[in-house]
Amino acid sequence: MQKATLILDKNYTIGRIDPRMYGSFAEHLGRCIYTGIYEPGHPCADEQGFRRDVLDLVRDLDVPIVRYPGGNFVSGFNWEDSVGPVENRPRRLDLAWKVTEPNAVGMHEFYDWCKKANSEMMYSINLGTRGAEAARDIVEYANHKGGSKYSDLRIANGKKEPMNIHLWCLGNEMDGRWQMESKTAYEYGRRANEAAKMMKWVDPSIELVTCGSSAFDMPTFGDWELGVLNECYENVDYVSLHRYYGNPDGDTASFLASTADLDAFIKTVVAICDTVKGKKHSRKRLNLSFDEWNVSYHSDHSGANRALREKARWGEELPILEDVYNFEDALLDGCILNTFLRNADRVKVACLAQLVNAIAPIMTRKGGGAWAQTIYWPIRYTSRYGRGSSLRPVLESPEYECKRFGSVSALDASAVLRDDGTVAIFVVNRSMTEDIELKIDLRAFGELAVKEHVLLTNPDLKAVNTEENPNNVIPVKGPGGKVDDGVLSVKLNRLTWNMLLLG
Ligand code: AHR
Repeated sequence: MQKATLILDKNYTIGRIDPRMYGSFAEHLGRCIYTGIYEPGHPCADEQGFRRDVLDLVRDLDVPIVRYPGGNFVSGFNWEDSVGPVENRPRRLDLAWKVTEPNAVGMHEFYDWCKKANSEMMYSINLGTRGAEAARDIVEYANHKGGSKYSDLRIANGKKEPMNIHLWCLGNEMDGRWQMESKTAYEYGRRANEAAKMMKWVDPSIELVTCGSSAFDMPTFGDWELGVLNECYENVDYVSLHRYYGNPDGDTASFLASTADLDAFIKTVVAICDTVKGKKHSRKRLNLSFDEWNVSYHSDHSGANRALREKARWGEELPILEDVYNFEDALLDGCILNTFLRNADRVKVACLAQLVNAIAPIMTRKGGGAWAQTIYWPIRYTSRYGRGSSLRPVLESPEYECKRFGSVSALDASAVLRDDGTVAIFVVNRSMTEDIELKIDLRAFGELAVKEHVLLTNPDLKAVNTEENPNNVIPVKGPGGKVDDGVLSVKLNRLTWNMLLLG
């Protein structure tokens, strides 16, 4: 059997993990909101029409923030349409997804839903068709205590106390041609800066995320970040990153190594932020908000949804981007979270895209059940156990060759020193062929024993969970391992995701 070693030391930390690294995203897209989180008349619906079965799954994932209401949707959205009596709200054509938006769920409803989900709203504003004035107004509406036009309107609409929304996105993917009123870096940077100034004048306690490139491989990547930050560096707090991976050619070895691309993306954006910091002689350090990430290709790849979308133009509750995730997708999502943990000093916010039905860990059937997709499991365990300080993993692992990234480490690992003194270690063996014996040197921690070994394994990389068979890919108890003189030996079978908890 191949062998690997991992050395951890409680004194060698990467940084404190911001719990918002385990955020998610709920866009007015497809069936995420309508028949996803909200379905009045469903047997599980609560008094506000929110599905209790979905809320249970979201609470179980432990999601501290949810980005809302878009995504592409937000670039044509008028926030005023989403407040006030529901019967007075307009039905609008949503040009992002070519559907009709009924505005039955709006800002107040989503705020209430977040409370029920033990989460907080991360609110994205429209910097496509709208500008700084609307941005100023919505902060006044949500966060000002009262005694002004928009704060009084909120109170009249039933919310006496301010919503205190802390984290705001300054638009979405404004470099993308598919965005309503996309912009050049200069145009967007200027608009973002003016909006940011005015939003913070209304509420200086808020934090702001400016749009980075919509992907690492955008032709304008790099120049976009430099141009935007040149305009708004001092008034924003985070730069956004978005990245989706797929395996359309069936090259699993490369697919599972996509974290090489992810790590390079993160490190490059950090370098750009710090370059602008230096150039501006600024004392301020920008961090990263990886506010869209996941595997996404199954539904588009088949083409079926596109055809359906065309046929159902201006419809409602359409099954858009309903990727059915398989076991290998769960392995990659585990590796993505490991990569965020290894960059915890700069990645402070991350939002899994998305939460329900549209490229999501949670699926529902209208009038039917709710179930967890394969990707739910590594996300759930990393979110629940991966909080505290991220430890620097010194890993010596066998490597394998893949087409897209050359030679890559077979093991992908991260480790967390939790505040209760226990250590959580997340390891994916992404080798297609080799089981590996891993020795983890934990001598710096004193006496430790394996308390839990959670294992995600399946002989079929393409195995999925469905409403009829929701437990096809679920975690099982792993064999654990023996700690001898502070060194844990554990066998990690090929193509497995593992969480080891030591205490
Ligand atoms: O998450 C789906 C879409 O992907 C979002 O609306 C957009 O921001 C991205 O292109």
